[in-house]
Amino acid sequence: MKSNVPALYPNTTVGERVLEYAANKSSEIPEALLKYHAEILNLENSIMSISTYQAQAMSFLAKVAGAKRILEIGVFRGFSAMVWSHAVGPTGTVTGLEKSPEYAAFAKKALADHDIKNVTVIEGDALETLKGLDPEEPYDIVFIDAQKWGYPGYLKTVLEKSAPGATGRLLRPGGLIIADNVLRAGVVADPSSDNPETGYFGIDPSKTTGDADRYGANEDLKALDEFSTTMRESPRIDSWLVPLFDGIGMGRLLD
Ligand SMILES: C[S@@+](CC[C@H](N)C(=O)[O-])C[C@H]1O[C@@H](n2cnc3c(N)ncnc32)[C@H](O)[C@@H]1O
Repeated sequence: MKSNVPALYPNTTVGERVLEYAANKSSEIPEALLKYHAEILNLENSIMSISTYQAQAMSFLAKVAGAKRILEIGVFRGFSAMVWSHAVGPTGTVTGLEKSPEYAAFAKKALADHDIKNVTVIEGDALETLKGLDPEEPYDIVFIDAQKWGYPGYLKTVLEKSAPGATGRLLRPGGLIIADNVLRAGVVADPSSDNPETGYFGIDPSKTTGDADRYGANEDLKALDEFSTTMRESPRIDSWLVPLFDGIGMGRLLD
């Protein structure tokens, strides 16, 4: 198709049907993971987990990248960590950073219950724990999916700690940065009244405190724009922003 418009599908109904078709025509993730996703779907804040179709996409990406070592920032109940674990296989490893003691404990138990042994969850504020990481080998993928106002800081730390020649380098040359929710239902790109999501996502200056409770706060939207701008403008990164799901920002580290 010659034109970029319409980028996706003409309305929500068609979009949903096309997505279901696409999911059915894509390699499945393991049954046990689908079952876990269904189990946690009714729990509080379950919207924070990636969807099963996004899991199919991320698993595919990790395999294309030949990833064996993945760092995840924001573990929640462990679903995406399980997906990465599946994608890297038993000889690969996944390290997850999670601030909430409750979610870290929940994820650790779920991983143990599923007999998944190649995921380590480190509890603490990732803005700090990320700086303290000193991996024996650099990661192949860094997946950013924690508090949205933190994205510029996470990217800065990843770039600084992955400088050529750095000891304890975080991301390998050619490694991928994958960031979830960079579009926030499109509001980051189009916060006008044409976007029916704008009312929900946001634009409420009083939302300045935590994480889930400030889902669409202004500060988050600005931080996401800053993140995507740096991904695009850094001479060290090749970037591709994918307007699927809630927006996936992808970058390949060049040096
Ligand atoms: C969107 S959820 C992650 C979902 C998960 N990746 C999945 O798809 O299954 C975001 C998680 O980041 C965590 N988080 C928020 N701020 C954080 C921080 N400063 N450091 C580490 N984790 C944080 C939240 O507690 C929450 O569990």
